[in-house]
Amino acid sequence: MRIVQHPIELKKELKNVKGSIGFVPTMGALHEGHLSLIKKARDENDVVVVSIFVNPTQFLPGEDFNKYPRKLEADIKLCELAKVDFLFTPNIDDIYDKDEVLIKAPNIKGYILEGFNRPGHFDGVLQIVNKLLNIVNPTNAYFGKKDAQQLYLIKKMVNNFYMDVNIVECDIIREKDGLAMSSRNVYLNDEERQKALLISKSLKRAAKLIMQGVMNVQDIKSEMLNILKPLDVEYVEIVNRNFDKLDKIEIDYTIILVAAKVGTTRLIDNIWI
Ligand code: PAF
Repeated sequence: MRIVQHPIELKKELKNVKGSIGFVPTMGALHEGHLSLIKKARDENDVVVVSIFVNPTQFLPGEDFNKYPRKLEADIKLCELAKVDFLFTPNIDDIYDKDEVLIKAPNIKGYILEGFNRPGHFDGVLQIVNKLLNIVNPTNAYFGKKDAQQLYLIKKMVNNFYMDVNIVECDIIREKDGLAMSSRNVYLNDEERQKALLISKSLKRAAKLIMQGVMNVQDIKSEMLNILKPLDVEYVEIVNRNFDKLDKIEIDYTIILVAAKVGTTRLIDNIWI
């Protein structure tokens, strides 16, 4: 595995690659969720590139940029074991210009749900993902469904800017007890971790209600909110794959999303129906 820090150097190296390139962008502190993306990229491409970069522009002032887990040594070992070909670990100063051209998330879909609670977050996400895709120029880029709105907006950017990459949507990976894997789970103490399970429990309950024929969104949301009462809920929302709010569940076209704080840790999760 080659570890490359400079964007131009990586671009040069990848120019010589023959065959397909699979790319997995990450912020590091790799867990089974990331590893499932990397495995999929490995299975489906000739060359696999992973990036690790804790992107400052997607954190709002007062968020956890400084304390976000950084585990580069362990991550390098995991990438080697997963047979990654190139690990890209840029520095902030190499990848960002002091006065650069900016990308803005769309005014509507970039500022609802996550974008409402973290205004500007998706501007930063799209800025860095656009750069990374231009540097790596992958055939396929892999993103998890856990960040459903991020995934939606990245696909929208790729469409709006006529970018030549296939975005691959990857399933959420969960702990045995149902907690969605996240680098932020390390912030939870034992008691909080138990409480956090209410999030996946509420989503499972929603899926069960739908299986029983309950299609009214308000009915489902109120059952979920009841389960989530002990948490500090930011939103429970039911949207279609285009992130428009729904009144009635549309099978194979619905996403149910939750964002809640457990102690000081903000968690998101969702289920695709
Ligand atoms: O999902 C993430 O880890 C980040 O938002 C991403 C896509 C790597 C951009 O920094």
